[in-house]
Amino acid sequence: MRDSRHPFLRRRLLPSLLCAALMASITESAASYPLPAASDSDTSQWRSALHYTPQRNWMNDPNGLVYDKGIYHLFYQYNPNANVWGDMSWGHATSRDLLHWTEQPVAMRANQTEEIFSGSIVVDTHNTAGLGPANSSPLVALYTSVYKAGSGHPPGTQAQSLAYSLDDGQTWQKYSRNPVLTLNPESNNFRDPKVSWYEPGGYWLMTTVVADAHVVKMYRSDNLIDWTFLSDFTLPDIPHQGSLWEMPDLFPLPLDGDSRNQKWVMIVNVNPWSIAGGSGAMYFVGGFDGKTFTPEHVPTAGSDPSRYQWLDHGADYYAAGTFASAPGGKAITIGWMSNWDYAARIPTAPWKGAMALPRMLSLKTVDGMPRLTFEPVQQYASLVREGATTRIKERTVSSSTQELAPSTRGTVQNIDLTITPRSAQRTGLIVRGSANGAVGTRIFYDTGTQTLTVDRSSSGKTGFSDAFSKQHIVNLPLENGKLRLTVVVDMNSVEVFAGGGEIVVTDLIFPALDDDRLSLFADNGTATFSDISITDLPDPHSTRHAR
Ligand code: FRU
Repeated sequence: MRDSRHPFLRRRLLPSLLCAALMASITESAASYPLPAASDSDTSQWRSALHYTPQRNWMNDPNGLVYDKGIYHLFYQYNPNANVWGDMSWGHATSRDLLHWTEQPVAMRANQTEEIFSGSIVVDTHNTAGLGPANSSPLVALYTSVYKAGSGHPPGTQAQSLAYSLDDGQTWQKYSRNPVLTLNPESNNFRDPKVSWYEPGGYWLMTTVVADAHVVKMYRSDNLIDWTFLSDFTLPDIPHQGSLWEMPDLFPLPLDGDSRNQKWVMIVNVNPWSIAGGSGAMYFVGGFDGKTFTPEHVPTAGSDPSRYQWLDHGADYYAAGTFASAPGGKAITIGWMSNWDYAARIPTAPWKGAMALPRMLSLKTVDGMPRLTFEPVQQYASLVREGATTRIKERTVSSSTQELAPSTRGTVQNIDLTITPRSAQRTGLIVRGSANGAVGTRIFYDTGTQTLTVDRSSSGKTGFSDAFSKQHIVNLPLENGKLRLTVVVDMNSVEVFAGGGEIVVTDLIFPALDDDRLSLFADNGTATFSDISITDLPDPHSTRHAR
């Protein structure tokens, strides 16, 4: 079942000879792959305005997130030849503010001997790898080579390789003695190196995975080339046998803003077995002594996903990782806004794949446990300040649905509001609603179950995949009888930030362009909505390619 969702897994299972032939034919045909037919070439009604999408073709994981010389770089898993997963290469986009992105030339392409899977980039400030001239600070990428026949490695095996750029990320040279790190025996599932500078020890730290063994492997290096094994991180009883661990990330954060009380956060992306079904990003908080990561809380054996901590409770947030060298040492993440359960069937063309809004992470004590909290990066707040805003002080709704004024209609908007459910059984808002009320994404609180739900069962086009899950439900107690929400609506997505950023729900939706109405509702009782502001966000498309 899983293999039908993830093409390279399917390939992994083929006998290697057949696999090699298949890979060769894919590569040959790729160069002349036909562009999508005109009929399915434009679904611009689902092209995000604020969220990065490539102009055309397939995109998955964010790779090589790095800030350097005033520029944020977003590299990503990209097929330069088609709107389906394959020929994995690194696409590239840049931004000064994490919201306006400029697509750049493809950074590294799959070739006759290897495909280029996920990885990371660091600024080699002291030229520790010796790949640049004296006193230069090259960008150094560690990525996963997936070998093809003729490469000198068994086809399908994966190892970590190095590439570097001496022109601020525009062009990349592969290191002459790649790979720099291979498992012995070679593995088909050794991938996704994430590198960071470990300040207390003064060395580079790499986390990678053996995906099907549910192990994060950690290594250290003085020069980004020679790596020494440190330790493994795994769970005593893997509750999700058969799933994969991918895209790990390990970084420190102060707890409750106290810089003397640092904890380490380990992100492990897991596919499938996410809280919302399919692929998702879980995390653990604990200590790291330069060698071993020790989580503070591990759910007991047999626990289901609800006992684990997640970066997002929606269906569409995967492969999340943090930026290297972010200003002020902040933890800024970008996740792929999709799900391996149905990513290949998403009805967008001529592109497939978008990135979630960049988020800033903090660590806060909640119910005696350190938990991540999430907010859109601060640049987003400036964008909201620039937009035209409709404010409503208070609205009471009794057992009905109330459409708001025409000025609140929109397809790219920020909505802030406080819900006081009072006697209502269920109450919330409907975004991207149709004139007749048949279409709309419902975001509501259920007072009986004390849960927040994003329901996309009538959100527009939903039938393209049976795995396109319809409802995402999160436990969330009210605070003094109230719930404050920030909802970011952008053409084909909703991101709901709730409970002071403790919970985020990110879901793709596929409504028609004129499904742009906003309503409030209360079922079986009376609810009050207050401090509502609805802001039309400026569409940065206009400048997307001008920078
Ligand atoms: C995660 C992932 C990575 C891999 C890449 C391939 O979504 O499966 O483990 O490197 O995608 O595109």
